[in-house]
Amino acid sequence: MYARIIGTGRYLPEKVLTNKDLEQLVDTSDQWITERTGIRQRHVAAEGQTTCDLAEQAARQAMEDAGLKPGDIDLLLVGTTTPDLVFPSTACLLQHRMGMAECGAFDINAACSGFIYALSVADQYIRNGTARNVLVVGAETLTRMLDWNDRSTCVLFGDGAGAAVLTADENPGILSTHIHANGGYSDLLKVDVGVSRGFRAEARGGVSVSMKGNEVFKVAVNTLGRIVDETLAANNLEKEDLDWLIPHQANLRIIKATARKLKMSMDQVVVTVDRHGNTSAASVPMALDEALRSGAIKRGDKLLLEAFGGGFTWGAALVAY
Ligand code: COA
Repeated sequence: MYARIIGTGRYLPEKVLTNKDLEQLVDTSDQWITERTGIRQRHVAAEGQTTCDLAEQAARQAMEDAGLKPGDIDLLLVGTTTPDLVFPSTACLLQHRMGMAECGAFDINAACSGFIYALSVADQYIRNGTARNVLVVGAETLTRMLDWNDRSTCVLFGDGAGAAVLTADENPGILSTHIHANGGYSDLLKVDVGVSRGFRAEARGGVSVSMKGNEVFKVAVNTLGRIVDETLAANNLEKEDLDWLIPHQANLRIIKATARKLKMSMDQVVVTVDRHGNTSAASVPMALDEALRSGAIKRGDKLLLEAFGGGFTWGAALVAY
């Protein structure tokens, strides 16, 4: 039994923040941001708009695309590192809003790899027969955790949500998933507040992402190179067998490095980072949905999805669409 993708959706908040807008906030320039990252604009959640609000829009679209009713879903997973609450999980909040009976529901925090991690969990549940239909969402409001005075991080991130519905099928769907982590790198990319450390955000100067950007960059390029090799080897495939690369959208230079490693032309790579910035766990499902709705990806195409994020975490999924 395989897990097959039968519906996708995405949602981006209305407000757009361009590089020019950022020039008014911090000492940066459109040219610097574009050249170093490929990002031209990002979307920012409205005041009061939460991760669950974004997730709901993407999830409803994916469910409609799949043609399933809320009661058909027997597992709901949300990859997020920016939940509405400490608990209940965003998945529980979303389940109630969607009217999804009493299916299992939980969040997965693997930072930017959250969707790939959630996809991997969903795949296992379907393969072993425990679940038939699984809704997997990646949703984030990363801009809530940015220090708008820190030009090295505030220009990079954006908000959004993407979703996919998976169903059990005898025909190939997800061929394999691969997830890894190395907590030894936790200091390179983090948000340094937490409940058990005595969480008082205001007392600690606010909640913000801190990152050693160029060190993250080097490890990301190297690690993604290794995970694509691992994924191809596990499926006895060569680089040429891949039709599409759907990478995590953090930085266009990282994406191009992975494409080069796979000897893929940029025409075979789905790129949204220019318009979305880094939306963490939402980036891969939004890119997938955009490419599917554009008609670019055809049934039978082989897609390589990959992501890298804080932890560090990283992972990949090979999908026969
Ligand atoms: N605008 C203008 N200048 C900036 C800037 C900005 N927004 N941010 C940093 N700079 C400056 C730095 O202060 C530094 O100046 P200095 O040389 O006078 O000290 C210079 O630009 C170079 O900084 P550096 O950090 O070495 O640049 P970089 O080429 O590594 O690019 C990143 C920075 C963040 C774009 C890049 O490292 C990156 O994308 N890293 C990966 C981040 C990532 O993907 N994180 C998420 C993983 S999921």
